[in-house]
Amino acid sequence: MPYYRSVGEVPRKRHTQFRQPDGSLYAEELMGQEGFSSDSSLLYHRYAPTAILAADEFTPPASTRSPNLPLKPRHLRTHKLDAGSADPVLGRQYLLANDDVRIGYVLADRPSPLFRDATGDHCLYIEAGTLRVESPFGVLDAVAGDYVVIPTSTIHRLVPTGDQPVRLLTIEAAGHIGPPKRYLSVRGQFLEHSPYCERDVRGPDAPLLVDDEEVEVLVRHRRGWTRYVYANHPFDVVGWDGHLYPWAFSIHDFEPITGRIHQPPPVHQTFQGPNFVICSFVPRKVDYHPDSIPVPYNHHNVDSDEMLFYTGGNYEARRGSGIEQGSISLHPSGFTHGPQPGAAERSIGADYFDELAVMVDTFRPLDLCDAARACEDDGYAWTWARRA
Ligand SMILES: [Fe+2]
Repeated sequence: MPYYRSVGEVPRKRHTQFRQPDGSLYAEELMGQEGFSSDSSLLYHRYAPTAILAADEFTPPASTRSPNLPLKPRHLRTHKLDAGSADPVLGRQYLLANDDVRIGYVLADRPSPLFRDATGDHCLYIEAGTLRVESPFGVLDAVAGDYVVIPTSTIHRLVPTGDQPVRLLTIEAAGHIGPPKRYLSVRGQFLEHSPYCERDVRGPDAPLLVDDEEVEVLVRHRRGWTRYVYANHPFDVVGWDGHLYPWAFSIHDFEPITGRIHQPPPVHQTFQGPNFVICSFVPRKVDYHPDSIPVPYNHHNVDSDEMLFYTGGNYEARRGSGIEQGSISLHPSGFTHGPQPGAAERSIGADYFDELAVMVDTFRPLDLCDAARACEDDGYAWTWARRA
């Protein structure tokens, strides 16, 4: 996913002779998922993508995780984590994690190292600022409200580009992230009922050629981290084609699905990952039955932990809870959650919600990482017991 794209120069026939101006062959690379049985791209390198000069073990910044004990709904204030200078990869402060997904936050003001995550796809959500994603596929520019999906093992560099640092919610999967299968035809086209389609998806549109030698690349892999020195800069691809590449989609292009009465969260689904989903709550007209209650009913989705990142507008159901811009709520399985006291009554008669939020629902419990403990609002669990 998302769909076929061709950028730069590629030979008319795959796996045939394709020569550089000096007569030597370009180095063809197939990058593909699920052992030649799923999406892939063919990339044409000036230099061998296999040529490494050194490999050393690398120790990434430490992060610990521990179970959500005692089991409580949690409120994390991500902006309390704002630190000094940080890069968008090594500066990530991890908040919530299980064996399927790891969720972090970073306020980044400088470029990351060249980085490859061989353990899974990343989905970055840009809360504020602007970001350039450089990779062998080219450049992808992203702004506030964009999701950027970076496929497993794509060597990339993240560069904050504006006057202000970039704020990123980072969702790292232990597998692949893509549009929900139910939005796609058997051949992968977005269907009419999907809240977004091909026209809303952006990818790199020109080669990015960087000439350099002895280039360091950090690789996170299934058994640790390794620092490689590549003989040549990995951004040496004159052309590529296929279905596998970094892509961006703006939350503002997500077309909300509404109804006479309350619509359940699956209508907000934007992506699926291994044992988790990502949903977008966007400004929308709300329930128009004459007796409707626009905020959600109390609910207990018994098989999921639910994380919600509040990224804009006013989140009506949470008024009075201390939730603010950049907040994350975690409502775990084993706890029934719902609107704050008074919110249901207050919402009656509303015809529009101005809210922007990103939700991650996981099918296995989320542990709390050390940064979550550092920015937690301890009073949140008791806010439903207050009088309206
Ligand atoms: Fe919920």
